[in-house]
Amino acid sequence: MKRTDYCGRIDRRYLGNDVTVMGWVHRRRDHGGVVFIDLRDREGVVQVVCDPDRADTFAIAEKLRNEYCIAVIGRVRPRPDGTVNPNLRSGEVEILAKTIEILNVSATPPFQLDDENLSETVRLTHRVLDLRRPQMQQNLMVRYRAATAARRYLDGHGFVDIETPVLYKSTPEGAREFLVPSRMHHGQFYALPQSPQLFKQMLMIAGFDRYYQIVKCFRDEDMRADRQPEFTQIDIETSFLDETEIREIMEGLVRAMFKDAIGVELPKPFPILAYADAMRDYGSDKPDLRVPLKLTELTDVMRSVDFKVFRAAAELRNGRVAALRVPGGGAMSRKEIDDYTALASVYGAKGLAYIKVNDATKPTEEGLQSPIVKFLSSDVLRTILERSSAASGDVIFFCADRAKVVNDTLGALRARVGHDRGLFETGWKPLWVVDFPMFEPDDASGAWVARHHPFTAPKDAHAESFVADPEHALAKAYDVVLNGWEIGGGSVRIHRQDVQARVFEALGIGAEDQRRKFGFLLDALQYGAPPHGGIAFGLDRIASLMCGADSIRDVIAFPKTQRGQDLLVDAPAPATEQQLRDLHIRVRPSDAIKPTG
Ligand code: AMO
Ligand code: AMP
Repeated sequence: MKRTDYCGRIDRRYLGNDVTVMGWVHRRRDHGGVVFIDLRDREGVVQVVCDPDRADTFAIAEKLRNEYCIAVIGRVRPRPDGTVNPNLRSGEVEILAKTIEILNVSATPPFQLDDENLSETVRLTHRVLDLRRPQMQQNLMVRYRAATAARRYLDGHGFVDIETPVLYKSTPEGAREFLVPSRMHHGQFYALPQSPQLFKQMLMIAGFDRYYQIVKCFRDEDMRADRQPEFTQIDIETSFLDETEIREIMEGLVRAMFKDAIGVELPKPFPILAYADAMRDYGSDKPDLRVPLKLTELTDVMRSVDFKVFRAAAELRNGRVAALRVPGGGAMSRKEIDDYTALASVYGAKGLAYIKVNDATKPTEEGLQSPIVKFLSSDVLRTILERSSAASGDVIFFCADRAKVVNDTLGALRARVGHDRGLFETGWKPLWVVDFPMFEPDDASGAWVARHHPFTAPKDAHAESFVADPEHALAKAYDVVLNGWEIGGGSVRIHRQDVQARVFEALGIGAEDQRRKFGFLLDALQYGAPPHGGIAFGLDRIASLMCGADSIRDVIAFPKTQRGQDLLVDAPAPATEQQLRDLHIRVRPSDAIKPTG
């Protein structure tokens, strides 16, 4: 028995022909003596009809249950008038079964494949069946097409696919790492790479000129919808190009992926936004530009007001007072405003003041409805209305705090309000964010840490200013943002050993630590390292956006749960005593496996 075509591809071309198809019983319906089977494979569904004229075939059809794997030989004929399904490629035809063979029976699945309300736990525990669902089949095909498009583009531009080690070593920067104990070296550990960053730089020094790899990266960080502990990067590095040239090639890659995988032409060129401008206007370095709202800067105005909450924040060295005007938001209920205030508190805001603009021509208590109007002079109120371009019927939200809190709060509020109120353009809004700060203070210790990673070149190549004034130093780093998701990030790298050493120093990594952790890089940089730079794209995130998936778990065949577990194979799992012995490891009693769930 040789398959003629996929079920989902049987269409008018086969009218009048006998075909052989194989797949799974998606649904079986008994219509008064005639049995209809929706037969499914990865390309879609075709309708199979069995009538009682063929008694033996009909007897088999009656035995079929959902998810039985079967082969059908039959004649393709047009569907009767009125039963055509325009949503299916096979929707104009059906197969009149001559022979049905059961290739394998199926136990009753624990859920209906077309149930839209399955819990994550059920889906991931029964992932094999979950993956049979047409949506998941499509998602993984889109992901595959995106990856193939990337390879095609990069191959076409002279990039060479080179593999780098997965057993690497611990390089304490960035996220927490996964450690792998060494059997042969007592008490020593490999670490799984957070990214192949230093290997790709060393490949540039080795002269390969253009490298790429579609590669697994590992980060033991808290999980979110857009994060997994192992995820896939399209990792790229090139020599002898400057920042603009690198961005140009990489923009071409993103565009090729969207065109080839889902037929979308992304806007050309991507707009370029400086980090400082992104924070000022959107409170975020990954703004969703589909939401047209912008923040209004008010820090300068609030330095001289009596309202202590605002003045105190405006006078802070790193403080900010900003506002978000919501067109037509004046009609918001008390409850809606309370909900947004609750959202603000999640981001650390101590309050979310608001003004409802009843009459924009009257910047006083008469025209404005708000708990804070009485604290602000009409001059200040007029400035607020002017700067935010407020109109009658709008509401204006305010946040006053450290700039980070204000940006996080209003950035999130902007996205949420935009979605809630349909202030939203459909389509694709990519952008570059550039001119990132070199350093940022560590949340816990306050020490300077690299904003991107410590191998990123400063804008000031002479290294004069970033040592003297790390706070304001800018980096040759860039991110690609699409519809509010950071889909890629990269930078021009430091290719001079002395500059690299000074950046390590600025980060508080002393000479001895530099040697121990990064000696191999510093050594390699001595031998004529070329100017180089690159980027890494998050393939999982790109595929999610292409599929309209809410979580990257929906474009990964076998993802981990929020708690880092694989429910299908049941990992992680305890090791046997012998395994631990071989690895010279003893599990401390206090760390012993705790019950999960
Ligand atoms: P970065 O850390 O920005 O850069 O990572 C690059 C891209 O990878 C994706 N990404 C993730 N996707 C899913 N789950 C995660 N936990 C996760 N973490 C990151 C994002 C991100 O933009 N070596 C540098 C790149 C370079 O400089 O060339 C790096 O890894 O889409
Ligand atoms: P209060 O005087 O504390 O009652 O605050 C008056 C208004 O200011 C209330 O609507 C609070 O939600 C709001 N508010 C308080 N703190 C802040 C803040 N840090 N940023 C913005 N609004 C605030």
